Amino acid sequence: CGIVGYVGPRSAQDTVIDGLRRLEYRGYDSAGVAVVSDGRLLVEKRAGKLANLEKVLDDAPLPTAHTGIGHTRWATHGPPNDVNAHPHTGGARRVALVHNGIIENFVELRERIEADDHVLLSDTDTEIVAHLVELQVQSGVDLTTAMQRVCQQLDGAFTLVAVDSEEPDKVVAARCNSPLVVGLGEGENFLGSDVAAFIEFTREALELGQDQIVVITREGVEVMDFWGRPADAKQFHVDWDLSAAEKDGHDWFMRKEIFEQPRAVADSLIGRRTARGQLQLDEMRLADEEIRELDKIIIIACGTSFYAGMVAKYAIEHWTRTPVEVELASEFRYRDPIVDNTTLVVAISQSGETADTLQAIRHAREQRAKVLAICNTNGSSIPRESDAVIYTHAGPEIGVASTKGFLTQLVACYLLALYIAQVKGTRFGDEIDEIMEQLEEIPAHIDTVLADADQVYELAREHVSTSSVLFLGRHAGYPVALEGALKLKELAYIHAEGFAAGELKHGPIALIDEGLPVLCVVPPKGRDQLHGKMLSGIQEVRARGARTICLAEEGDTSIEPYADVLLRLPKVPVLLQPLVAIIPLQLFACELATALGHDVDQPRNLAKSVTVE
Ligand code: G6P
Repeated sequence: CGIVGYVGPRSAQDTVIDGLRRLEYRGYDSAGVAVVSDGRLLVEKRAGKLANLEKVLDDAPLPTAHTGIGHTRWATHGPPNDVNAHPHTGGARRVALVHNGIIENFVELRERIEADDHVLLSDTDTEIVAHLVELQVQSGVDLTTAMQRVCQQLDGAFTLVAVDSEEPDKVVAARCNSPLVVGLGEGENFLGSDVAAFIEFTREALELGQDQIVVITREGVEVMDFWGRPADAKQFHVDWDLSAAEKDGHDWFMRKEIFEQPRAVADSLIGRRTARGQLQLDEMRLADEEIRELDKIIIIACGTSFYAGMVAKYAIEHWTRTPVEVELASEFRYRDPIVDNTTLVVAISQSGETADTLQAIRHAREQRAKVLAICNTNGSSIPRESDAVIYTHAGPEIGVASTKGFLTQLVACYLLALYIAQVKGTRFGDEIDEIMEQLEEIPAHIDTVLADADQVYELAREHVSTSSVLFLGRHAGYPVALEGALKLKELAYIHAEGFAAGELKHGPIALIDEGLPVLCVVPPKGRDQLHGKMLSGIQEVRARGARTICLAEEGDTSIEPYADVLLRLPKVPVLLQPLVAIIPLQLFACELATALGHDVDQPRNLAKSVTVE
């Protein structure tokens, strides 16, 4: 969910709505705003996208106010209707509160509230918290103390932001396992789930720690723990500006982000090689000794980041000879994994806030594993709780479906692999320079693929009535097939599945029917038999009526007889091919969804940053 808070001279309604617009990618099932005006609390909320709420407010603006909070929701408790939308209020409508996360002991708290004859209007856990906070302020304590007392009773993960109509110039927020940052203005202050909420007004921000409460007024910001003891928060400067969070002439953020990939990859490679040809990973804090002692790497991630992890396995094992497992973060801690102080756990997360991944790294650290985060969001929870970090330099990713985030994660994984090879002195250590040069050529190769976007768009539009698409790949092309299928599911709501081409004959081939589109990621021709085996798989599906759409490198003529449609990829080594092969698949999903009339940036039921387990 997206959360905003504001105190200052501006219109609270407009500032909060502006912030919500920039955070809408975090959830868009419903939206709401509460302001305090002349000692009165006013709340407006609506199911559906933020536009529904904006329309209501355009027709009937809230009275002038300078303190406000807002929320855009990704539903957990209760369906996304007007009543369940945030903010929620206490019974006397004195306190309004918004919440991100899940309160785990809500059943017990609800019983307590209902036993006191409070009537709850919604199905949410949030409303219970609003009642609890209101009960506290009605007993005579201030809002800050009320929040402390309530937070002490809550289990789970939450960010809470509240206003009290009797303390009109103050917003109080709490953070526990869920994101919250403070925007520092002059004579005004802001709260947001991330800096996009206030980037238009200030680029100075405070990063809060776990279990902290923050009070913002016009004059200042006060941070404390749940027991009221003063606490520290780290100030940071946001190094991207508003234009990074705007569409810049594109119809969708996603399309803009696809076209930003050459830059994002180049930025993620900058400054990694010293003059003496040594690889350096600035942000990383693992000692060489610790790397030498590693005997296993486990990569944990969710969604697209998981597929980046699958590619990483091929590269790390090949270049470093260190065994790698890749695991879905949501499964990791529940299967009693074998982890100790010679294990490196690599957590890949664009947002740095995914709850499944965060919980998995906590489990890993309890088992004494070292944790390295690959992350795109400075100061987010996952890098903060890791021993080391490699930041990707994609800039803010706003489209819900990840594109440039994925590519830069791949780059970070390759860098990590090469770094381990360098430190361990493995056979491939000597080739680091050569591979770095190949990586440095990738931005130009991506440009070449993007120059052919129209061909992919046309292909996508031919498929508007398709109900199913299969994706095949081998080796590093297999995760590309999975990611290509995920993009299509996420954006076009079409049944799509990715398979390892070799596995086809063991079941999936039964799905092949006359005219079924099958997108095939063909590996480059090399010394091994990969290419030939892939060709056999393509022939097998074609013989059964599939329409084969093949992605193959320039100059590969052997594919021509078997490809109904041929999309060309630049020549790159097989391990790096995902960096170019995924581009047409991203464009395909984006264009097909556009042709179907879907909202590409905010696909149904999804959220960019899933902060609940
Ligand atoms: C959500 C998003 C996906 C993303 C996944 C992991 O499900 O919709 O696009 O890949 O989370 O996100 P992370 O921020 O941890 O990479």
